Amino acid sequence: MSSSNMLTNKDVFSNLDFDTWAYLKNLNHTEEFLLGKYLNKNAKTLEAGTGGGRIILGMKKLGFTSLSAFDYVPELIEEAKKKDTTASISFSVEDATALNYQDEDFEQIVYLQQILCCMEDESARLNAFKEAYRILKNGGTAVFSFLSIEDRMSKPFYTAFIVYLRLLRLMGNSKTSLQYIPWLKYKGKPNLGALLDKKPYMYWYKLEEAYNYLEKANFKIIAMGSDFQVNQGDMYTSLADLKRQPIQGGLYFVCTK
Ligand SMILES: C[S@@+](CC[C@H](N)C(=O)[O-])C[C@H]1O[C@@H](n2cnc3c(N)ncnc32)[C@H](O)[C@@H]1O
Repeated sequence: MSSSNMLTNKDVFSNLDFDTWAYLKNLNHTEEFLLGKYLNKNAKTLEAGTGGGRIILGMKKLGFTSLSAFDYVPELIEEAKKKDTTASISFSVEDATALNYQDEDFEQIVYLQQILCCMEDESARLNAFKEAYRILKNGGTAVFSFLSIEDRMSKPFYTAFIVYLRLLRLMGNSKTSLQYIPWLKYKGKPNLGALLDKKPYMYWYKLEEAYNYLEKANFKIIAMGSDFQVNQGDMYTSLADLKRQPIQGGLYFVCTK
């Protein structure tokens, strides 16, 4: 646990919710679609926030040949290594906000499944976007996903919870954005701390905001959509066009440098 006694997301992944992320298996449909459609199996590829290695091992199964992955929780990296029986994947313990990889080290980078939602302040998020850009080769491809606040606010249960959080924060004189939401479950069980607005929080992005973060980091966005668009096999190139469509599930961006 962190020294201040205030839990962080790193405490969640290394401790409270370790089992959830250590032993997951297999790619989901969205991941298979994005990785299959936009990435080259022979290019040097890095996965960020690999946890127990679910995505990178799924990519190995799909036939990707040059794979690396990192996570900031050493125990998760150990679990991932155990599953890589041929030791063909290069695993490292790294923090996405300050990476030790060389500039332009990778031809492809995969930032799926919330990693960019785990940073608990804006400067850390900006660093993580900057670092992703730095390690990607010119002409390389990046795949990102984000939790979507628009999707969350479209569901009555979550809207009610966010209204409740708003009241709690008003009463507590807290100016914390309502895009910071406490974990509702640990190990698949309700986290009662969420009712007391207990940290840590995950950061839920607006569609346009995720787009702006990527543009600010200099990425060129070539395709974007939510799970709704992925399920239709129909990603968008224009933000204005996507904003007129239903936003359901997570947000996905494919970029080049
Ligand atoms: C939601 S889990 C996803 C795990 C795995 N990618 C999967 O889909 O099964 C997010 C992962 O990102 C890692 N993570 C979060 N912030 C990180 C950071 N700043 N640097 C490196 N890893 C980070 C966590 O330890 C966790 O394993």
